[in-house]
Parts: sequence; structure tokens; C-alpha cells
Amino acid sequence: MEKIYRLLYPMRIVLITSRAKEKDNIMAASWCYPLSAEPPMFGVSLSDKRFSYNLVKEGKCFGINLVAPDMKKAALFCGTHSGRDTEKFSGSGLTKEEGSRIKCPLIKESPVSIECKLVDTVEAGDHFICIGQALRIVKRRDAKGLYQKEGTEWIEI
Ligand SMILES: Cc1cc2nc3c(=O)[nH]c(=O)nc-3n(C[C@H](O)[C@H](O)[C@H](O)COP(=O)(O)O)c2cc1C
Repeated sequence: MEKIYRLLYPMRIVLITSRAKEKDNIMAASWCYPLSAEPPMFGVSLSDKRFSYNLVKEGKCFGINLVAPDMKKAALFCGTHSGRDTEKFSGSGLTKEEGSRIKCPLIKESPVSIECKLVDTVEAGDHFICIGQALRIVKRRDAKGLYQKEGTEWIEI
């Protein structure tokens, strides 16, 4: 079937961090978008096949970590391995930083991280929209973003 969603590409790639029962994880996501300005809220569409979906639901929080061009290899690793059988912080070489408003890890190499408290999940076809309220923004550096154009064709903007 034609991938109609591709009409909206390129989409910005982020890394979603999560934690439940002492298990920390990272996954790549390009379906992440603002939902509300006040209060600031974001949505991320997660397939229930993703281990991250279980962790976000259980842990009731997630981190949105923007991806800079120098994080490409790590982002690809996190988007092609599952936390079910891989420890992705050590596997990707990314550095864990504790969130301060949520009990979720963040990524130190990321130019900007957003700590989100899960407020709802809404089933939307083959994905679930995880709705998060942003409680804290961590800005570390200025950097370009990485955008998914098609599969592993990613561009810097
Ligand atoms: C660039 C890129 C973007 C992705 N975007 C999403 C997304 O928005 N939603 C989703 O459910 N999976 C997305 N994925 C797939 C997950 O990142 C991938 O299945 C990952 O292995 C899931 O890890 P987990 O099982 O540890 O949660 C994307 C993968 C890549 C490489």
C-alpha cells in the first residue's frame, strides 16, 4: 500500500527515552509533534510493538531528545534495535542524564531535551498517541536537526 504519511516528510527525528521497573530505554521517533502551546504538550505516536510503548505506559513519563547530525549513528542504532534484548545506552554510546521533574532518563549529547509527564494515550489506527505535558526543557547547545526524508535518507536542517 502507498505510504500516504510520506506526504508530510521530511519529519524531525527525536530520541524518546523511557524507564519502568529499573529498565531504561531509547528509541528513535519521527512521529513526534506539538499538541498544545499552553500548557505545553507533545504527542508521540508509538506502535504497541515497541518495547518503549510498554515502558512509557508503565513509567508514565518520557523524554523527547532532539537529534543533532553528530548523533546520527546512535539514533540509527536506537531505531533499529529493541530494548527487549539490547541495552541501548551502552550500545549507542549515548550518555544518560537523570531527569529532574520526571523519573525518566535524558540524553546528555542531545541539544535539547524535554521532560514529559504522560497524561493520556489514545489509540490511533496502528499506533498509540502518547500525550505528554512538558514539565521542563533542558537546552544544552545550538545544533542543526536531523530529518527523516525516506528510510535511512536523513537530512540536516
Ligand atoms: C528514523 C526513525 C524514526 C522512527 N519513528 C518511529 C515512530 O515515530 N514511531 C514508532 O513507533 N517507531 C518509530 N521508529 C521505529 C523504532 O525506533 C524501532 O522500532 C525501535 O527499534 C523500537 O525500539 P524499542 O523496541 O526498544 O522501543 C522509527 C525508527 C527510525 C529509524
